[in-house]
Amino acid sequence: MAWGALLVVLCLCLRALAAGPGTTPETRGIFEGIESKFSLRTPAIPDEDICYLVPGQKDSLAHCSFNHTSKTFLVIHGWTVTGMYESWVPKLVDALYKREPDSNVIIVDWLTRAQQHYPISAAYTKLVGKDVASFIDWMEEQFNYPFENVHLLGYSLGAHVAGIAGSLTKKKINRITGLDPAGPTFEYADAPMRLSPDDAEFVDVLHTYTRGSPDRSIGIQQPVGHIDIYPNGGGFQPGCNLGEALRLIAEKGFGDVDQLVKCSHERSIHLFIDSLMYEEKPSMAYRCQTKEAFEKGLCLSCRKNRCNNMGYQIHKVRTKRNSKMYLKTRSQAPYKVFHYQVKIHFFGKENVTKTSQPLLISLYGTTDERENIAFILPEISTNKTYSFLVYTEVDIGDLLRLSLQWEKDSFFSWTEWWTSFTFDIHRVRVKAGETQKKMVFCSQDGVAHLQKGGEAVMFVKCLGNPVRRRKAGHKPISEIKTDP
Ligand SMILES: *[C@@H]1O[C@H](CO)[C@@H](O)[C@H](O)[C@H]1NC(C)=O
Ligand SMILES: *[C@@H]1O[C@H](CO)[C@@H](O)[C@H](O)[C@H]1NC(C)=O
Ligand SMILES: *[C@@H]1O[C@H](CO)[C@@H](O)[C@H](O)[C@H]1NC(C)=O
Repeated sequence: MAWGALLVVLCLCLRALAAGPGTTPETRGIFEGIESKFSLRTPAIPDEDICYLVPGQKDSLAHCSFNHTSKTFLVIHGWTVTGMYESWVPKLVDALYKREPDSNVIIVDWLTRAQQHYPISAAYTKLVGKDVASFIDWMEEQFNYPFENVHLLGYSLGAHVAGIAGSLTKKKINRITGLDPAGPTFEYADAPMRLSPDDAEFVDVLHTYTRGSPDRSIGIQQPVGHIDIYPNGGGFQPGCNLGEALRLIAEKGFGDVDQLVKCSHERSIHLFIDSLMYEEKPSMAYRCQTKEAFEKGLCLSCRKNRCNNMGYQIHKVRTKRNSKMYLKTRSQAPYKVFHYQVKIHFFGKENVTKTSQPLLISLYGTTDERENIAFILPEISTNKTYSFLVYTEVDIGDLLRLSLQWEKDSFFSWTEWWTSFTFDIHRVRVKAGETQKKMVFCSQDGVAHLQKGGEAVMFVKCLGNPVRRRKAGHKPISEIKTDP
């Protein structure tokens, strides 16, 4: 009898010990359903799960050296075929710790639920989101860990997990970054089922693989945050084409084929990593109604929050409506480019309209130059003004001069053989997106004759530049309106 009673007491004590201090049977009940795991990574070992924070077990926080006073990033992966973390995970962890050395970077491990058939995993986002919300609420309840210190980063399906988590916490968390949120089953879903601006104080989204019809697109096409950035138009990313794929296979073998399939989708993560690494040189994105208007260079304005940094250092601008922003990038890190709007009026004596014209532009600046940037003007017509976007991968400094060349068509054409098309150009107007500087360039001969198939024509800063005609101390150069 006595032995039996002792055994019962001993068992109870052991159970209490195992559950740890601060854990009552009720709280354990709340957390029992949590299947997701919360792995606190360290700057020294960013690629391994060495310590798990267990909701309901307060001592797991001390055990894992969770820093209560600094911010916390929760990284949420997406659907997985292999059931393993993808190679970007340690890269993102590493970049977060480099940028915020005192922070807590936690990987939300929901791999078992993420490796089902896609629709099943997609449906699991609800449960995983609930797990994440319980975890955040628990931290707040246990030791007043502030919701303002929480930043969720979700990739693909993980972005919707983050959204659902954010909608369920007791108070709004600080920020959610959606990295190419998954499209299938979410494109037409109601806001509570997916990532939406209501899910955090600030929601920013990168869309990198929104290709095809909306129901087929890997990444969600509609804007789902306060700020939605569509790098390179959001459809497809440079360096992810088939030619590049074949080159990589030749170099590295078939091991990376998986990587190539996801290239554009995963680019969202690498762009974010880039923003963590190159603190002093954030890529700039510009608000624009349409991708087409951006391609014409019409949206390089920074007034009224129309431009913003892409990635970590974004300004938290909350407009009433979703705002779509665009930028160009390089095909690999560092991704930043420098955007220019170029505006030209084509004078001529005869009415001529030509479509799809190949041109080359060279930009010479104070620190560097970029020659023969090829672009296609969809149309050139006599006595009309055209605006287009060009960008450089290098920072050329302040633009000093530029040249234009009008190339021959790639096919032989008799009409071009007999008639040489020439347009006269008086001025070339340029606006630099990154510096917001406006400049006007003139031909040294007064008027430049741009001939199809002819030589490049050079433009230098205009003398008696209309821009200089401002009253001293008045409007800044960028404010002066230049007419065509
Ligand atoms: C915790 O983070 C704070 C900054 O938020 C830092 O000052 C402190 O040194 C960190 N503590 C430890 C033990 O790393
Ligand atoms: C284009 O404009 C110029 C001057 O503004 C004029 O001399 C010329 O005749 C116009 N060309 C055509 C085709 O109308
Ligand atoms: C060129 O076209 C415009 C409008 O289409 C017309 O007003 C003008 O007279 C034309 N000029 C010539 C030289 O044919």
